[in-house]
Amino acid sequence: MKRIVVGITGASGSIYAKRLIEELLRLDLEIHVIATATAEKVFAYELDLEFKSYMEKLRKQYHQLILEENDHLFAGIASGSYGFDAMIVMPCSMGTLGEIAYGLSKNLLVRAADVALKEKRPLILVPRETPLNAIHLENMLKLAKMDVSILPAMPGFYHKPKSLEEVIDFVVGKVLDHLGIHHQLFQKWTDH
Ligand SMILES: Cc1cc2nc3c(=O)[nH]c(=O)nc-3n(C[C@H](O)[C@H](O)[C@H](O)COP(=O)(O)O)c2cc1C
Repeated sequence: MKRIVVGITGASGSIYAKRLIEELLRLDLEIHVIATATAEKVFAYELDLEFKSYMEKLRKQYHQLILEENDHLFAGIASGSYGFDAMIVMPCSMGTLGEIAYGLSKNLLVRAADVALKEKRPLILVPRETPLNAIHLENMLKLAKMDVSILPAMPGFYHKPKSLEEVIDFVVGKVLDHLGIHHQLFQKWTDH
């Protein structure tokens, strides 16, 4: 696993994306980040942090971070020949999930997911919505049948988190587990 695409949408839970990006960079992976317009707004609202400035700050430390523009369909990751290893959309709005389910590749995020699907590369969606209506559930089922991993932002509590950070890291760790990426974000369950 070398090159990973991270999509961020305007679903609640920007903190998940922030932690995921930080952890992937710490692991020295090349990551391409694409945020939707709403994702940038929700990020600023929920975290009191301007998205692009934060990405710039990270880029000074980690040169393997590439910030993509969502309207730049000429980007390498828009093509099947470019070759990325996996894509994660975290958090994933019901809107973007529906666009991916129906192949509406009008922006780079959805196009990259479309590429992951057609090239049969791992695609992990981390939906965040509650309650779920029948459209949401049908779209998730449709994608699951295409081998997309639907990994909802549903933290467990059996690791007895002591802070919000540990709750967030549980979900981020689950995503990394799914890609076979070793991490120490939470203590794995052992015999009790
Ligand atoms: C503060 C805020 C929180 C939101 N939370 C969610 C959410 O958890 N799940 C969701 O599907 N949409 C949520 N939305 C709505 C999406 O942002 C909206 O549907 C948007 O069109 C999604 O666009 P995008 O997928 O291009 O980012 C939220 C919107 C705002 C402003």
